[in-house]
Amino acid sequence: MSTDTLKVEKLSRELHGELCIPGDKSISHRVAILAGLAKGKTTVANFLCSEDCLHTLAAMQQLGAVIEQEPNVRSFAITGTGMHPTAPQKEIDCGNSGTGMRLLAGVLAALPFKSRLTGDASLCSRPMGRIIEPLELMGAIITAHGIKPGCAPLEIEGRGLHSLEYTLPMASAQVKSAILLASMFTKEAITVHQPSRTRDHTERLFAHFGIPCTTCNNGLTIRTEGAALPVASNIAIPGDFSSAAFWMIAACMIPGSKLILRRVGLNPTRTALLHVLRRMGANIEIVDERTSCEPSGDIIVRSSTLHGTELKKEEIPNLIDEIPILSIAAAFAEGKTVIRHAAELRVKESDRIRTVVTNLRAMSGDVEEFDDGMIITGGAPLTGCELDSFGDHRIAMSFLIAGLRAEGTTILRHCKNIDTSYPGFEGHLRQLLQ
Ligand code: S3P
Repeated sequence: MSTDTLKVEKLSRELHGELCIPGDKSISHRVAILAGLAKGKTTVANFLCSEDCLHTLAAMQQLGAVIEQEPNVRSFAITGTGMHPTAPQKEIDCGNSGTGMRLLAGVLAALPFKSRLTGDASLCSRPMGRIIEPLELMGAIITAHGIKPGCAPLEIEGRGLHSLEYTLPMASAQVKSAILLASMFTKEAITVHQPSRTRDHTERLFAHFGIPCTTCNNGLTIRTEGAALPVASNIAIPGDFSSAAFWMIAACMIPGSKLILRRVGLNPTRTALLHVLRRMGANIEIVDERTSCEPSGDIIVRSSTLHGTELKKEEIPNLIDEIPILSIAAAFAEGKTVIRHAAELRVKESDRIRTVVTNLRAMSGDVEEFDDGMIITGGAPLTGCELDSFGDHRIAMSFLIAGLRAEGTTILRHCKNIDTSYPGFEGHLRQLLQ
């Protein structure tokens, strides 16, 4: 079997053990960018050395940041450019990462040179109009050269940007963050209004690096003052809640299990899954909570009988990345789980409504597809079979977890993409199965 294909069997025993979850992907991207722009040297611990984040780190090197030590030792230093990035000598490759491309576009829009952002086939088919619009309103010129309109490669003609008050048309932390990063180079204040709360890592890291930024209206309005000079400040990145989610749901649904997940990020704009799982009957305990820039703690999950629930519209942005694995919990839960208002799933690394529905149906799951989500009727056993990840890391990991409870054998093709967010996932799986 090629290393791109992974196989799991139905588990005939419980899962027990402890895992140290790798660093948070969203925070790692932002730390690479802010430390790379800062004045001075930032030591970063537990950076996520996944393909996505390493692409962003390499982009910052192209812009003049200096990285000491091999990044794969997980703790290294970034010496920033003091807000004077240099023009990249070649195009910047963001790989598979929408976050990398959208956030970097915010920085490049403000710099006095031309640059070009590109990525793999999946990234070059994802919508970039959502960042092009506000960045052009601030004064940049961005041309999308993709096969589909509004898609990468992006050619960016940066320039001195001006003030903006902008209401996001969708709840997107990436779009918000692109504007906030661009605002660090403006002379005037910038205000962003969001329709509902999205992950606030950029705002927290602005405070950490000493960049003035205020929020009001319950976190929905963010204002920066422009002309920022981030100051290097060491940071330890907590484990990624979205990666922990795979094990949380595995422990919930495999009878007799108990897993302890160490040092996981517990930012409330990321943890809606905790509330949803508890509503479904999950037994989840949080211990040893602490806050340093970001809240974190240990998560203890014990198996329990789950029942279906209806996701609330305002919960969606705070668990958008966890919906593929939540759909697996739903397939094993008694009754219906209703996931609507989630059309954003269609423009992720794959069309995650289509890919979840396709794979659940292939496993004999009962799922109804809607433009903006799905309704899953759980409770009947799933059957193992051969599935595709559709090149999407979260689809691969979700269906490997499903395979631990489905009858027989589950084979997942095209799993290499797991390395974009969770290098070491297979090792953690093998560790728990030993
Ligand atoms: C991210 C924001 C979310 C999320 C993505 C990471 C971020 O996307 O799905 O995986 O780091 O800002 P949107 O902001 O586009 O919803």
